[in-house]
Amino acid sequence: MKKVIVTGGAGFIGSHTVVELMAAGLEPIIVDDLRNSQERVLHGIEAIAGRAPRFHRIDCTDREALRRVFREEGPVQGVIHFAADKAVGESVTHPLKYYHNNIGSLVVLLEVMAQHGVKDLVFSSSCTVYGQPAQLPVSESAPDANASSPYGFTKVVCERLLRDQHVADPTLRVVMLRYFNPIGAHPSGYIGELPLGVPNNLVPFVTQTAAGIRGALTVHGDDYDTADGSCLRDYIHVVDLARAHLRALTYANTHEAPICEVFNIGTGKGNSVLEVVRTFEEVNGVKVPYVIGPRRPGDVEQVFADTSRSNKILGWKAELDLRTALRDAWTWQQHLMQ
Ligand code: NAD
Ligand code: WQD
Repeated sequence: MKKVIVTGGAGFIGSHTVVELMAAGLEPIIVDDLRNSQERVLHGIEAIAGRAPRFHRIDCTDREALRRVFREEGPVQGVIHFAADKAVGESVTHPLKYYHNNIGSLVVLLEVMAQHGVKDLVFSSSCTVYGQPAQLPVSESAPDANASSPYGFTKVVCERLLRDQHVADPTLRVVMLRYFNPIGAHPSGYIGELPLGVPNNLVPFVTQTAAGIRGALTVHGDDYDTADGSCLRDYIHVVDLARAHLRALTYANTHEAPICEVFNIGTGKGNSVLEVVRTFEEVNGVKVPYVIGPRRPGDVEQVFADTSRSNKILGWKAELDLRTALRDAWTWQQHLMQ
């Protein structure tokens, strides 16, 4: 079985990707220090895949420990690098943590990959690099200099770092995926998002409100220039997103010439906050009490993806709709409460 190192593989997107890799007959090796995930995720993966994934509990910024993993695991086909800190607000109050982990882990990983002759890398980037795009849907050629938070800027820097490293070592095959807004969970209910404390993201807040854990959702602004006044985002089912990684890895593995490319991974559709709330209520038959609050600082009004590049070149397309994602998110929330 071909081995693939998956840093951050116990996290939200990583765990769903590990499941897809296993289903495709690959052997993912999870490298995660569980700073933002839990060991029980590994049991969830096992329950879905029928076997336990290989796992190394280490910090990816620890060069020696990462080197040991590559040495012990033997030849690997490629790496998918999810490990990063991702809380936008915390990145404003603790920027050094974000620059250290998000950029540092990539630097260390590239050094260790070079030492072991591993050439193929899929990297987690984000639509946050676009800020508020001038044109929608936004394509990969739009400027990436508008990231408004230190977190977002780490993604801009990492993309640049990868391009620079590709110039220095043109034998690398690098695929950078700019995710839009990942939501949902595996339909089995065995794995999903595990937000720590009060969720910042919309869908975990919605599911916790529906479950009675939170009193009411605050909709951050209804005076935007959109049909119902609330912000628009491109909400992508995490299982679709996970499958995009399999395509990206295959694309890198089978590409004759070296590559360093970037792809949008979204549905191509924008949905408003109020549409998400209404759809959630409709699909799941539960109420989501909400109040309208002021705009949230740093929010962009609307962003959704032009996915033509990933459709055409990766042969990937989102297949699961908002209804399915919100149903699966609710199944997961109920599973968490059992
Ligand atoms: P997550 O926090 O659920 O998963 C990240 C995992 O990486 C966690 O399990 C954490 O323990 C681990 N980790 C972090 N730093 C590490 C380190 N130094 N060493 C070892 N393990 C480490 O986050 P996610 O939502 O699955 O995001 C995965 C990637 O996708 C991140 O790079 C994130 O920036 C990016 N991304 C996420 C979103 C989103 O909305 N969820 C959107 C765009 C991009
Ligand atoms: C979505 C919409 C909120 C919570 C973030 C990161 C971005 C990327 C994806 C990593 C917005 C509204 C939210 C609430 C609300 N992550 N909302 N009430 O901000 O689009 O993107 O995750 O790369 O970098 O910034 O996602 O889920 O926080 O918000 O009204 O309690 O829901 O204002 O319009 P966002 P989100």
